[in-house]
Amino acid sequence: MIKNIYLSVVLLLWVTTAATAQQADAAMNKFVSALMGKMTLDEKIGQLNLPSAGEFTTGTATNSNIGANVKKGLVGGLFNIKGVDKIKAIQKVAVEESRLKIPMLFGMDVIHGYETTFPIPLGLSCSWDMKAIEQSARIAAIEASADGINWTFSPMVDISRDPRWGRVSEGNGEDAYLGAQIAKAMVKGYQGDLKSNNHILACVKHFALYGAGEAGRDYNTVDMSRIRMYNEYFPPYKAAVDAGVASVMASFNEIDGIPATGNKWLLTDVLRKQWGFTGFVVTDYTGINEMVDHGMGDLQAVSALALKAGVDMDMVGEGFLKTLKKSLSENKITIAEINAACRRMLEAKYKLGLFKDPYKYCSTTRAQNEIFTAAHRKIARETAAQSFVLLKNENKVLPLQKSGKIALIGPLADAANNMAGTWSVATKQDRSVSLLAGLKLVAGSGTEILYAKGSNLTGDSILEERATMFGKTLNRDQRSEEALAKEALEVAARADVIVAAMGEAAEFSGESSSRSNLDIPKTQQKLLKRLLATGKPVVLVLFTGRPLTLTWEQQHVPAILNVWFGGSEAGSAIADVLFGDVNPSGKLTMSFPQNVGQIPIYYAHKNTGRPLAEGKWFQKFRSNYIDVSNEPLYPFGFGLSYTSFSYGDIKLSATRLKGNQTLKASVVIKNTGSHDGAEVVQLYIRDLVGSVTRPVKELKGFQKIKLAAGASKTVSFEVTTEDLKFYNSNLQYDWEPGAFEIMIGTNAREVKSADVEWAR
Ligand code: BGC
Repeated sequence: MIKNIYLSVVLLLWVTTAATAQQADAAMNKFVSALMGKMTLDEKIGQLNLPSAGEFTTGTATNSNIGANVKKGLVGGLFNIKGVDKIKAIQKVAVEESRLKIPMLFGMDVIHGYETTFPIPLGLSCSWDMKAIEQSARIAAIEASADGINWTFSPMVDISRDPRWGRVSEGNGEDAYLGAQIAKAMVKGYQGDLKSNNHILACVKHFALYGAGEAGRDYNTVDMSRIRMYNEYFPPYKAAVDAGVASVMASFNEIDGIPATGNKWLLTDVLRKQWGFTGFVVTDYTGINEMVDHGMGDLQAVSALALKAGVDMDMVGEGFLKTLKKSLSENKITIAEINAACRRMLEAKYKLGLFKDPYKYCSTTRAQNEIFTAAHRKIARETAAQSFVLLKNENKVLPLQKSGKIALIGPLADAANNMAGTWSVATKQDRSVSLLAGLKLVAGSGTEILYAKGSNLTGDSILEERATMFGKTLNRDQRSEEALAKEALEVAARADVIVAAMGEAAEFSGESSSRSNLDIPKTQQKLLKRLLATGKPVVLVLFTGRPLTLTWEQQHVPAILNVWFGGSEAGSAIADVLFGDVNPSGKLTMSFPQNVGQIPIYYAHKNTGRPLAEGKWFQKFRSNYIDVSNEPLYPFGFGLSYTSFSYGDIKLSATRLKGNQTLKASVVIKNTGSHDGAEVVQLYIRDLVGSVTRPVKELKGFQKIKLAAGASKTVSFEVTTEDLKFYNSNLQYDWEPGAFEIMIGTNAREVKSADVEWAR
């Protein structure tokens, strides 16, 4: 009886919610149809136009005529503009001076925080903490919306297995499953239900496969089988769509020989028809114009191609603005296609509530009170500490004592302007906490922090010139390499322990920053060797936007803490971890290669017909190299702690399962060290026999648990046939009965395993 009442209530609620949603849709349709009924063709095309206001650009800004165009109703949205007053002023032009008073969208690359900057996304992903990741997006949305922004070009969820590509810094690493969880968390954090004035539209990008460019070169050709797209690269984009993401950005690369921006199969068949996406598609910066260089025709032809493929909004290039009218008169496109795109743009504005209140995001009080607040910075500091990955800690060099003398040496030690990392356009770079400032803050009065720069970031003037193109300075010290090193060695001689702050400058990674050599720059490596030669314990605090090749460092440096670029509070967060106030718990989400020749390298590879025997690193006529093992230097999922964890054997609820049963797999995990700590427990599954070849393991679950020193805990995962599904050669998503290996472990290399049989 009670159950029946309960079911009726649930049903009633569901019916009411569905009915309310239907009513809301009907109201929106009515409003948009009425508005479109008044619009001229030019005004409709105007809604599809997204110029850059030019404050921070990644290409050539092509339009200086924005104000006039806004008045004419020829601008649908604007980006690269910062500051609530400026935004309010131009919105006022749109809603007071244009004929139909249609408000504009204001976009920005709010990628990892706004003014309060969080770690670069690759770092954030290493926290494996979905709550923290969602919260970082939430705070970014609060700050951005307080400053006039109502649309962010994030999350970037491109899977990549090639650290030569500079934009791995902006993504979540190599894994489709983890990438999908992060995509969901970020969309939720940015958008929520869009009702309040501190949620904004999200834009998942870059659709699709942008991280798979050949040779790790940015914007390069992608050629991939469909089965691989669906199984290994699409899941994060699809997860964002399932989470209700409002917009999708087309990528620069081609897919199946057709640039994504003009690819109807991708933007309409997959995105809208298969996945049910109802939001709008925007191009990337001049994505339409670039199809001319791809060799797809002149501006008129490629603009028509993009519209017909499913693009709604044209970023920067004005191909739509300049050519769609002509194409329509020549019957190369239809008015229905223009209407569909215009309708989607108006719907997005309606959902944001801009027709009710175009200044919903333009509150000067909010701008004064909600940006870069102490509360946000505190969370940024805690989150940053979670993103760091301890790669080595021989003889427990770390944590450091809060006493004695510490020599802090290296070009990234006192480099506040590099802490935020790449793609942080809203950040005030110099406000970030440098490592030197953070160490002093956290160390306490009993510790003496000595400092010397030791070397410049690079001795290579070409690299330096290219990394500073957007006005970021590398703070070059004009002294000679020898003079800098000499000073550093003198400082080191007076200390008990050396902390070497080295690695990449922020702009060595990011857009248009592919590298063919992934070593720490030579001048820094030379200094590191000299510091090690002092015989003092050395801790390498590694700043980087991508996996580097650290084979030499792993052999010779006693402790390595990888800190990526930690954002506004980087220096304090690093100090928290170095001194052990926070025990590191980050785990890599991208394999670190031993050398560049191993790339692409990733844990979820196929077995091949000639796999190596277990434990071997070379066998003749097997799939391997003669000069390096197949193993990465640090595998996916790897990261140490100041404590240690032991894993018991896997206990299964059954070893033979049928149909929709649920398998429970458990392990007992014990904190066997002397510090409290957190561990990311990882579940992998291998499908041993399939109608298509399957990876040697795939992540299917994870839990981040806290364990006090000496404590143990049983961690359980539930596995259902949903976790066994994959796209087969007909691109059907299903599971196949047979044998499966269930693995649970601390990283992709060190796992316990058990076998099950699963029948239909
Ligand atoms: C990047 C996008 C970015 C856009 C707008 C492009 O160069 O590829 O990720 O959102 O610029 O700034």
